[in-house]
Amino acid sequence: MTRTLLRGTGSALPGTVVSNHELAARVDTSDEWIVERTGIRQRYIAGEGETTATLATEAARNALADAGMDASEIDLIVLATATPDNTFPATATKVQQALGCNGCIAFDVAAVCSGFLYAIATADSMLKTGMGQKALVIGAETFSRILDWEDRTTCVLFGDGAGAVVLELDADAAAGPDTPGIIATRLHADGAQHDLLYVDGGPSTTQTVGHLRMKGREVFRHAVVNLASVLHEVIDDAGISAEQIDWVVPHQANKRILDATARKLRIPAEKVIVTVDQHANTSAASVPLALDTARRDGRIKAGDLVMLEAMGGGFTWGASLIRM
Ligand code: ACO
Repeated sequence: MTRTLLRGTGSALPGTVVSNHELAARVDTSDEWIVERTGIRQRYIAGEGETTATLATEAARNALADAGMDASEIDLIVLATATPDNTFPATATKVQQALGCNGCIAFDVAAVCSGFLYAIATADSMLKTGMGQKALVIGAETFSRILDWEDRTTCVLFGDGAGAVVLELDADAAAGPDTPGIIATRLHADGAQHDLLYVDGGPSTTQTVGHLRMKGREVFRHAVVNLASVLHEVIDDAGISAEQIDWVVPHQANKRILDATARKLRIPAEKVIVTVDQHANTSAASVPLALDTARRDGRIKAGDLVMLEAMGGGFTWGASLIRM
């Protein structure tokens, strides 16, 4: 059977760190409130010259170096973002130009915070149906540029960054959860929940970029239910038990959502990768950023069984089980 292997990871962060204390000097909030409600201690904010494309390119270069591959080998670039450099063309094509691999397939997917899960599922399917051998899948965001910095209920929660993975098709893999690669993925969306989390602008409505709007308490409630449900689906599809999972790499929205979801699945907190304290919520970048962080610090190793999961605006949500 065919299976898509994860060959390398990389990430990139802007040069500027903003602590909760620094934010509290500008916004009516406090370090205590932010840490207690979210677990966030700091976030990285893009400065002049730093864009979604520049962060994505740096993350992609780091992932290629980790995989020991040259950009010229890549057949497909799928970039997940809700904060593209321009309305069009796709930010993936800017990354392609910067990497010097013009000619390969390159496009963006928009599924907000679960964008990386949608992107990895898209690349996995395209490789398996003969569209190429090697893919770069990137999650990159500059959410600082769509935040209403007057709205303390949202602006304290987000940060900027990028993460990337290199995938390669193995056309002759053994079946089952012990074989390396992407084992099972499930995606969902529910457009009825639009008003709980959205951006109040866009080219076809207001002709402006708009600002992020969120009913945090309702989002929280849906997130725990939807994530627990999709995790059960993937566990069932893969024919494993939750105890077999070595690491969960969740979307880093809020430490309390991570804890509540892990509790529902009876997965111990030590198996959950947490970077929300350092990066805040970087939307589509958060899962690959956390994955790369945990691989580089030696926690996630070759052979480990890793569950990725995310939920975001739309709503959209999904999970993917990977043997490293
Ligand atoms: N600083 C200080 N006080 C604040 C702040 C702030 N930054 N923000 C809100 N408050 C106040 C409110 O005004 C309110 O005050 P009041 O009681 O006097 O009216 C009080 O704090 C409580 O506000 P709530 O919104 O009820 O606080 P809650 O405990 O629900 O926490 C939070 C808010 C952190 C947003 C939480 O609901 C949450 O994390 N929700 C999920 C959001 C999320 O994860 N979104 C992302 C998922 S999808 C994606 O990533 C795009």
